[in-house]
Amino acid sequence: MLRIAVMNTKGGCGKTTVATNLASYCASRGCGTVLRDYDRQASSTRWLKARSGGYAFIHGIAAFEPPREGTTRAWQMQIPAGTRYVITDTPAGYSEFDIEDRVAEADVILIPVLPSSIDISSTADFIRDLLLVGKARALNKRLAIISNRTRIHTKALEKLDRFLQSLDIPVIARLRDTQHYVNAAEKGIGVHELQERDAQKDTAAWRELLDWLEDVQDSPEIPQETLRTSSG
Ligand SMILES: Nc1ncnc2c1ncn2[C@@H]1O[C@H](COP(=O)(O)OP(=O)(O)OP(=O)(O)O)[C@@H](O)[C@H]1O
Ligand SMILES: [Mg+2]
Repeated sequence: MLRIAVMNTKGGCGKTTVATNLASYCASRGCGTVLRDYDRQASSTRWLKARSGGYAFIHGIAAFEPPREGTTRAWQMQIPAGTRYVITDTPAGYSEFDIEDRVAEADVILIPVLPSSIDISSTADFIRDLLLVGKARALNKRLAIISNRTRIHTKALEKLDRFLQSLDIPVIARLRDTQHYVNAAEKGIGVHELQERDAQKDTAAWRELLDWLEDVQDSPEIPQETLRTSSG
């Protein structure tokens, strides 16, 4: 099982878009998929409610809600047997976001970023917090950037690329700026499930993203703990 958390405290950068499209892509490839929503706005949860039974099943967990009366938190958060991907959507801002807990329960952290100077500066600050407060590197988490609503060769994007190179964080997908994402979101589906032929252009990004995740799953890094023990 691979646990993927989509995070960036900057609002509106595409966390829900990435979480929902990735979940629907994984599920439609026949993989047991959980979509866990920590955001009180409940965008992912609403998306899943809009998804009809004709599409591949995704198990939803509304983690932002308290457990129902008579049930425990452990019961509410239960991951069904046979799950291959647990995809977590997280809120914007810091007030309802426990960075240490969210990092601890992820194997991979995907960070969507928009190509504007303001978004890039906030994302740089967020990545510093992930590393310093969340200890993401020390805990051996894999970090990767998803460049969202990409317009090729903006100055801001070059600045982000330089910053990421200095931290050795890969950009693993670039998503087009297209109304397809808005239309798919309303229907509870991913862009790859849209009927429009033109939307098929956008499927490649999700295929590449899943390929990258499969590589991560096949070649887990040796945990720091093991390295320390083996080197004495
Ligand atoms: N690549 C894209 N092309 C067009 N529209 C997009 C794209 N990505 C996201 N959007 C739209 O931008 C808006 C914000 O995206 P989204 O809700 O995924 O961001 P978010 O980071 O989850 O926001 P929040 O911080 O509020 O949770 C949504 O209306 C979404 O449909
Ligand atoms: Mg969201």
